[in-house]
Amino acid sequence: MTDVRIGVLGAGRIAQSAHLPAISKSAGASLSGIFDPSPVLRAGACQRYGVPAYADVDSLLADDTVDAVVIAVPDRFHLDLASAALAAGKHVLVEKPLAGTLAESQELVALAKKSGLVLQVGAMKRHDPGVRFAAVAVRERIGRILSATVWYRVMSALRPEVEATYFPPMIVDEQMRATETTFKVDRGNYLLVTHGAHVLDGMRYLLGDPKELCARRTNIGNDYTWHGLATLAGDGLANFEITANVHSEWSEGAEIFGEKGSVKLCTPFPVTMAASGVEVFDEATGMIERPVFGDTNPYKKQMDYFVRTITEGIPADPNADDGLAAVRLIDAVNRSLDAGGVWVTP
Ligand SMILES: NC(=O)c1ccc[n+]([C@@H]2O[C@H](COP(=O)([O-])OP(=O)(O)OC[C@H]3O[C@@H](n4cnc5c(N)ncnc54)[C@H](O)[C@@H]3O)[C@@H](O)[C@H]2O)c1
Repeated sequence: MTDVRIGVLGAGRIAQSAHLPAISKSAGASLSGIFDPSPVLRAGACQRYGVPAYADVDSLLADDTVDAVVIAVPDRFHLDLASAALAAGKHVLVEKPLAGTLAESQELVALAKKSGLVLQVGAMKRHDPGVRFAAVAVRERIGRILSATVWYRVMSALRPEVEATYFPPMIVDEQMRATETTFKVDRGNYLLVTHGAHVLDGMRYLLGDPKELCARRTNIGNDYTWHGLATLAGDGLANFEITANVHSEWSEGAEIFGEKGSVKLCTPFPVTMAASGVEVFDEATGMIERPVFGDTNPYKKQMDYFVRTITEGIPADPNADDGLAAVRLIDAVNRSLDAGGVWVTP
């Protein structure tokens, strides 16, 4: 079988640190070429991977040898580029969040469904085997959920050093970076969208869709925290926390308590290439299970899976509806905040 040939739109941080290495390591994928409006990033990334630079988005999408497109550009361009790629007959892996707003996300879901092509969202934590094991254990082994806590705390001063260790050397365009910074001035909103797209997708993946939620936010200077409470389908309660930044190590996980047992999940900073630690307690046997998964690159696993959606027809994970549901939860958090922390229906 021939490789799935992938064109990449965007050669910024996540493309360089995650998608380009993942494509080059994934057995069923090959990189066709890259487009980024920054000449520095476009030339640098193409040289590193020995592939041609496309002159613009249209020429990448017009290339008949390209089967699929990775969209690794700022959120505000997701709808335009993903819909153009689908219209050109390309399968799409679009970075999280699905699109820049709830309305745009709804539009993209409709377009994806109409196209019949694959649209997968880059919430790659679903491809961490520890997270997958935990989700199955919650569904099949611990009964109805009474109580859960899900948290995601972004490290502060430690982060650059960790990234410098694990990332390939970053090609940087200072002018592009300065431009993007101007779109992040509403720091509270930016942090909720960028991190909420992971943690709220993770909460749904583990616990299902909440019936309602409420949330509060506070900040000390540039450090923000969101705490929320959600009612689950079976009437259990889940706390969720997003904090960016903590003056501490990375801290991400979940503790879930059901009628028959519990599931605990400890997720590392994703670029550290380790799978989540998971622990499943079964009260009937009194046994705790702690599977060992070995080193794991969730971005490569995401790419391997995306390739299989195209070659084997397995369903995208997360799919466009999942992407929309995560954006809907971010929107619900904001609606609750705007109304002083009241309960809202997502
Ligand atoms: N899954 C994850 O772990 C993760 C981590 C970080 C960022 N992200 C997501 O990835 C996306 C990109 O984030 P980033 O940190 O790489 O941003 P970035 O600003 O470093 O890179 C984005 C790049 O897109 C380019 N670009 C802009 N318009 C374009 C166009 N029309 N065609 C092609 N390229 C274009 C920019 O020039 C820039 O180089 C965002 O949606 C973000 O939420 C995901």
